[in-house]
Amino acid sequence: MEKYVILGGAKLEGEVEISGAKNSAVALIVAALMVDGTCIIENVPPVSDTYVLIDIINQLGGNAEFIDKGVLKIDSSNLCCYEAPYEMVSKIRASSYLMGALLGRFKKARVAMPGGCDFGVRPIDLHLKGFEALGASYSTEKGGIVDIKAESLTGASIYMDQVSVGATINIMLAATLAEGQTVIENAAKEPHIVDVANFLSSMGANIKGAGTDVIKIKGVDSLHGGTYTVIPDQIEAGTFMIAAAATGGDVLIKNIIPKHLDSISAKLLEIGVTVEEYDDSLRVIANKPLKKANIKTMPHPGFPTDLQPQILTLLTAAEGTSIVTENVWDNRFKYVEELRRMGANVSVDGRIAVVEGGGRLIGSPVSSTDLRAGAALVIAGLMADGVTEVYNLNYIDRGYEDFEKKLRGLGAQITRRADGEKTKTATIA
Ligand code: UD1
Repeated sequence: MEKYVILGGAKLEGEVEISGAKNSAVALIVAALMVDGTCIIENVPPVSDTYVLIDIINQLGGNAEFIDKGVLKIDSSNLCCYEAPYEMVSKIRASSYLMGALLGRFKKARVAMPGGCDFGVRPIDLHLKGFEALGASYSTEKGGIVDIKAESLTGASIYMDQVSVGATINIMLAATLAEGQTVIENAAKEPHIVDVANFLSSMGANIKGAGTDVIKIKGVDSLHGGTYTVIPDQIEAGTFMIAAAATGGDVLIKNIIPKHLDSISAKLLEIGVTVEEYDDSLRVIANKPLKKANIKTMPHPGFPTDLQPQILTLLTAAEGTSIVTENVWDNRFKYVEELRRMGANVSVDGRIAVVEGGGRLIGSPVSSTDLRAGAALVIAGLMADGVTEVYNLNYIDRGYEDFEKKLRGLGAQITRRADGEKTKTATIA
């Protein structure tokens, strides 16, 4: 088992390059299964979720491999299999996209209920309702296998009861190869929804309106191969912005789309952090006392749930009481228990956390409870007095490329060690 060992107190300073968006890449990789040919996807982060999907594609009869740094080649011309059992899909949530992609391509799919981070119940009823509206039927079998089939898929009007990123993407995938027009209303508007639509369109799909709450998809007979570049990672960028703020740092976050980070920049400004915007970068300067703030996570363009643990951690250092409301998931505060070990004064009641800020965190051993919570605990370690050990790095590895290397490049004292290796307390760099 490996861990991060962090000596807190160093201000992050310098420049950091943001990788391709993990949440987008995982959807594009699955979407490439609908292409009867070869896709080259550039700027793919080499994180563990990506490798899990590469394995899945190869097991389904496709051929996926990195041919250069960040360049993934996927040839789906010989894809033959429409079944993805539990052992294939249990590791990641994005495997739910296999349902839409395989249904679109083969008009049938047998996929086990997907895995991923545990934030409480993660239903897929909206995905399945969408497939039904397109003319598919489904049954759930022993072992949580969802068997979906259709004689043919026909475009339909689909109103989503709740904004769902996963369901919007899944329905968009299946509708791309349906007959006629599909209209998705109350669609999610996350940057990766737009990226998936742009990817599919560049391979021959006809999709309009992605990024608004009405997406119109005119079905096409087939998709052709091509080359596409993944957008920068909004969540990785937000994580570094918050890490810079949390350490009193001064960091230029490069290779990003600043518009995607508006909700984070606005909150950091409210907290007393300076954010300077450039064409494809943001500079975050934290040289004033931090102020309390209230945060409510919302679908895009609201504050993303995937940055909730990181910003809550920052607020432990802000004078006064901050309220953080998690509106997307019913159980996304598990990591607070770990922050409390470090001396944070945070109480949780259901979806609301009350942060009594202003105290110093104290270095302690803590364990990641999910991907973004893991990043938050690293930020806590950077803020804390003394040494913090962060365990369960497998979560962080799912979504952050070279996390400790990038942090070290900014002056953080963080190393990755096998558990049991000696920790020096004076310096660990
Ligand atoms: C969500 C986030 C996404 C984030 C990911 C991992 C939103 C809108 N989505 O995406 O930004 O990267 O978690 O943290 O912020 N729901 C249903 N039925 C369904 C599908 C979803 O009721 O069939 C509900 C969920 O319980 C949840 C909400 O809709 O409360 C949003 O879920 P959804 O957007 O689908 O989740 P992800 O796609 O995993």
